[in-house]
Amino acid sequence: MATVLKFKLAAEDLKPRIGSRILNSKEELLSGVLAGEIRELLEQRGILVFPQINFSDAEQIAFTKTLGTFAPEATDGENITKITLDTKANPGAAEYLKGSLYWHIDGTMNQVPILASLLSCKVPATWGGNTGFCNTYAAWDDLPDDRKAELENLRTVHGVWPTVMYYDPEPSLAKLKGMQSVGENELPLVWKHKSGRKSLVIGCTTQRVLGKTAMESAQIIHGLREWATSEQFSYSHEWSVGDLVMWDNTGTMHRAEAYDSECGRMMHRTKLKGDEPFEG
Ligand SMILES: [Fe+2]
Repeated sequence: MATVLKFKLAAEDLKPRIGSRILNSKEELLSGVLAGEIRELLEQRGILVFPQINFSDAEQIAFTKTLGTFAPEATDGENITKITLDTKANPGAAEYLKGSLYWHIDGTMNQVPILASLLSCKVPATWGGNTGFCNTYAAWDDLPDDRKAELENLRTVHGVWPTVMYYDPEPSLAKLKGMQSVGENELPLVWKHKSGRKSLVIGCTTQRVLGKTAMESAQIIHGLREWATSEQFSYSHEWSVGDLVMWDNTGTMHRAEAYDSECGRMMHRTKLKGDEPFEG
């Protein structure tokens, strides 16, 4: 007769408005028994930290699959994506990843962004290199009601090209056109989720707010970014080898903090496929 495994999720808060640390063993996590509770806690807390869980690539893939629909990399079909700024280890993606140093949501060029990402630390940076997260549900919830009324139905335009201006403010025309060839995507400023909860859709991909002047638009975008990333809604993870951090991409923003691009910092990422469009 098969043994029925019965584990309990062991979690503690990182900060009142964002993040939980999960203390279960690798065996308990890989069993899949806790998957439902993990998914639920992820949506409530924005990010989950699994300190020094030391998953191999195969274990990380297996764990990801217990939680939902595994999303392989669209570009090359690989199961694990190596995240590094080191051009020797990752020649194609290093330039693109420079935009990841600024607050963003993954997939704002799609109608259905990925649900979650899982990042494992293989080699930490020699200095810097934390990953920052902020809770965009909590940031929306805590806005005053009159501000919510002003913002609730605004619409924005996102693109990849606005991110270039953060790290290369005087790009060549060819580079600018290359980034613009990806196109633009109109999105709501406030995501009204199926659950009834609401979150902010902002970040370095936001180019403008429709119907506003350039100055008003910049004030909304940067003002909300400043609010959402303020101390009470944000958490910066300092990596140790073997740490795994999972974030709800539909209710958080994230960014890598500056580090020496030659230091060999290496992270391995898997993703869960999204199931909810920015607008229903
Ligand atoms: Fe990202």
